[in-house]
Amino acid sequence: MSAPPTFADARNRRQKARVAGLHPDYWYAVEHARALPRGRAVEVKFWNQSIALFRGDDGGVRALENRCAHRHLPLTLGSVEGCRLTCMYHGWSYDESGRLADVPHDRFGHPMPAVGLRAYPARVRYGLVWIFPGDPARATERRIPDIPELEGRDRWACVPLDFTWRAHHSLIVDNVSDFSHAWLHRKYRPFSDARLTRCEAIGDRVYVGYQTKVGRGKISGLFVDRRRVNTDAMDLCYEYPYQWSDTGGKIKHWCFFLPIDERTTRTFFLFYFESLRVPLTRVRIPRALMTPLLRVANRLLVAPLLRQDGAAVEAEQQAYETHHALPVPDLNPAVALFQQLTVRKWEEHLERAGGV
Ligand code: FES
Ligand SMILES: [Fe+2]
Repeated sequence: MSAPPTFADARNRRQKARVAGLHPDYWYAVEHARALPRGRAVEVKFWNQSIALFRGDDGGVRALENRCAHRHLPLTLGSVEGCRLTCMYHGWSYDESGRLADVPHDRFGHPMPAVGLRAYPARVRYGLVWIFPGDPARATERRIPDIPELEGRDRWACVPLDFTWRAHHSLIVDNVSDFSHAWLHRKYRPFSDARLTRCEAIGDRVYVGYQTKVGRGKISGLFVDRRRVNTDAMDLCYEYPYQWSDTGGKIKHWCFFLPIDERTTRTFFLFYFESLRVPLTRVRIPRALMTPLLRVANRLLVAPLLRQDGAAVEAEQQAYETHHALPVPDLNPAVALFQQLTVRKWEEHLERAGGV
């Protein structure tokens, strides 16, 4: 049994998509903001690069290459001192630009070593920490997606949740936008009887539309007010490198993918709702109560549903590694468009980086 081909050796679109990275010149969600309180450092990985996230005394979030410039220990083993990250071993300390700012021991007559670390632009938005792993000069021209519903006083209820699956990101993109896998969720029925009504690539986006019955599960269906929300159709988009859906302008979600390595992806799911009703009535649940309700719903309904997807994509990853040479008779034309976009963007990156 041979290993799957590399990107350069891949013979078809699917094989290329299965090993492509995600273009680094975008903002990527890497952690929940609440996992990074003041004074804490956390390691995250983007496509095998280890990155130290830390939050200083002033509340600001920073990201540095996770490697002390002295003997290359991970800086996340060290500590946050003020607004600097300090190595555990000899205490060399780095500021947010990656500059070596302090050596706390005798330098034996040497000047400060002229060493520094790569710094990544970092921000907090929608309860997530975002970094820009690509060319920092492009960080200002690219935007974290604007989600107006999640901003301001009257924002919609949203409780982000995330999963790390042993699967390549392209498998997850296929999964979240291809409703032909309703069978997997026949117990929860998040989308039943789906019929493709739109499938169109425009620039760096692939739009998909379904006529489908949204949220007809026994419990989830109770909270959706069908007189106010059209739940007979759903629009989706692979808006590279993210993915979103919209049901009647009232129920929406974004998926943000963090490609950790060739076979590991962390996905942040943000489902948000304009309103939900008290079951069996027309009474809208007050916004203030929706957040705790969503917390419970995430645990009881959403997470079990998404764990089904996780089990499927992890099994598919292993299946791909064994059967990468076999044909895949995909029936949904959207899948080919997702893969084309993933491959094209990765080729753009390789060309820019001079790797092709
Ligand atoms: S290894 Fe980091 S200070 Fe020496
Ligand atoms: Fe699914």
